[in-house]
Amino acid sequence: MKGLLTLKNLSTTKIKEIIEYALKLKGGATKTYSGKKMATLFFENSTRTQYSFQTAMLNLGINVLSFNASSSSINKGESLYDTVKTFEALGLDGVVIRHSQDEYFKELENINMPIFNGGDGASNHPTQNLLDLMTIYEEFGHFEGLKIAIVGDISHSRVAHGNIEIMERLGMETYISGPEEYNDHSAKYISLDEACKTCDIIMLLRVQFERHLEKMSITKEEYHKNYGLTLERYEMLKDNTIIMHPAPVNRGIEIDSSLVEAKKSRIFKQMTNGVYVRMAVISMVLDGDL
Ligand code: CP
Repeated sequence: MKGLLTLKNLSTTKIKEIIEYALKLKGGATKTYSGKKMATLFFENSTRTQYSFQTAMLNLGINVLSFNASSSSINKGESLYDTVKTFEALGLDGVVIRHSQDEYFKELENINMPIFNGGDGASNHPTQNLLDLMTIYEEFGHFEGLKIAIVGDISHSRVAHGNIEIMERLGMETYISGPEEYNDHSAKYISLDEACKTCDIIMLLRVQFERHLEKMSITKEEYHKNYGLTLERYEMLKDNTIIMHPAPVNRGIEIDSSLVEAKKSRIFKQMTNGVYVRMAVISMVLDGDL
């Protein structure tokens, strides 16, 4: 299958190549694919990923078709495979898909049109991982030896799982922190206070209430006090430490509202970088380089 579904089968050399290309595009390099057509098929809510992909397509001169899952023939019982096969039959040059089912793309192995994964269940979100890496690389100029703590609802987070896998391969020291009920032991545990004093990157995650089968055992106020980036913890950070968050942000829970745009926050820069990473990925797939 063509496209980008997961980073697990991409070499670190290829990942660095995507980031370098995204940085060139951010620096003003241009590429156009006039006459190409793509669609974003989102079966789960999204603001950043959907509109960032659409912006990337428009920047590349690609025509974007709108798709509304709630008014599509999925509601008449059409399968995901038949929906995607339909877009292939219409002559599209690629689709972006977000779906709540882990590895939904395994059902789509017979599709010949490129597929870009905009997130599957709690498993993969490759372009989010790439934009996170681009933001880190832009800041520090390297990956090796950097210490990151990913804090919060780890067990329901496709961002955390993808980042831990690729960051370890790139030579970063990865830790997880947050409530024990969301600790899936996918990396070594560090207390948030210790992380704030020692890590180069604090990556906060939203508590993903929509994926929970059971109610959180603590209140939102208790979460903020024990596991959130408070003003006191912000003061503990090293001078060059940065704060990241894939967003959407639950202000006042995982991060104090006044810190979302603090000096050390790179949250909105991550979103800007997402456009360039997605331009790079689309371009490399269309050119046969990915
Ligand atoms: N970071 C992210 O995936 O955001 P959206 O859910 O808004 O796309």
